[in-house]
Amino acid sequence: MTIRICLAGATGWAGSAVARGIANSEDMTLVSAVARTHAGKTLGEVLTEPSLTCQVYATPEEALTAQACDVFFEFTKPNVAKANVITALNHNAHVVVGTSGLTDSDYEEIGTLAEQKQRGVLGVGNFALTVVLLQKFSEIAAKFIPQWEIIDYASDRKKDSPSGTVRELANRLSKIRHSELTVPIEDTQGVKETRGARMTGSQVHSVRLPGFTISVDVVFGMPDQKLTIRHDSGTSAQPYVDGSLLSIRKVSSFVGLRRGLDSVLDLS
Ligand SMILES: NC(=O)c1ccc[n+]([C@@H]2O[C@H](COP(=O)([O-])OP(=O)(O)OC[C@H]3O[C@@H](n4cnc5c(N)ncnc54)[C@H](OP(=O)(O)O)[C@@H]3O)[C@@H](O)[C@H]2O)c1
Repeated sequence: MTIRICLAGATGWAGSAVARGIANSEDMTLVSAVARTHAGKTLGEVLTEPSLTCQVYATPEEALTAQACDVFFEFTKPNVAKANVITALNHNAHVVVGTSGLTDSDYEEIGTLAEQKQRGVLGVGNFALTVVLLQKFSEIAAKFIPQWEIIDYASDRKKDSPSGTVRELANRLSKIRHSELTVPIEDTQGVKETRGARMTGSQVHSVRLPGFTISVDVVFGMPDQKLTIRHDSGTSAQPYVDGSLLSIRKVSSFVGLRRGLDSVLDLS
């Protein structure tokens, strides 16, 4: 028995790399794909990968009605991701979410539905192993250092802000503590917005410029000492593939919502 997958966003930059990864895995099968432009074709025709014989559908509803699946993988766009996840849960699929842009309250709602449906949802802001380590190292630092700020860098074309990586990081650090502000934002003299946005206890600054893919600096400050933990993504989607495949294998092993790849990894 292989794991049957519906991959939404299968023709995209990240989704096509995951589709090829699935094609090369013996324990999983892509049974359907979702993308609007190439709906009606086989995914193999679009990606020139003959082993991908599944059909591309324009919507998750059509794909999930035509082909039952075990795991729905969401890799489309922030504006449709939440609705796609809800559709998939209503079709009784387990769900892996790679798409950025979902808020903490979106995830709360999704988690409640996942519990009702007795299905697993794994939301992963970044599937790269090096980002999992950035998250872990930052959580350790936050235990010892009460003040930090996060700088989120991405290309000028990225519409959502901050990145999924930074949303997830801020959410995780909030469980350690909230970063202290020596001068409260409301007491800032001048332009308050230059101090960034407060997100679940972290001060976040987003930079959107050509030349960046996705980078993040977590800057911890103490009197007379600083620590910067930095991650830089390259230009290929390959670093996300192994984490995506691992998520597909793990998401049916629990019920409800988990966030972060390390929630299904043993990093101890
Ligand atoms: N978690 C991670 O590690 C990670 C890594 C990389 C990217 N991401 C995130 O993943 C998302 C996708 O990124 P990407 O760079 O792969 O984007 P992309 O290259 O633009 O691909 C988007 C895919 O979704 C499809 N799509 C878009 N809107 C759709 C809709 N309304 N209905 C159905 N299909 C739709 C597109 O096909 P059509 O346009 O033909 O419909 C395409 O297949 C982004 O949110 C990005 O930030 C996360």
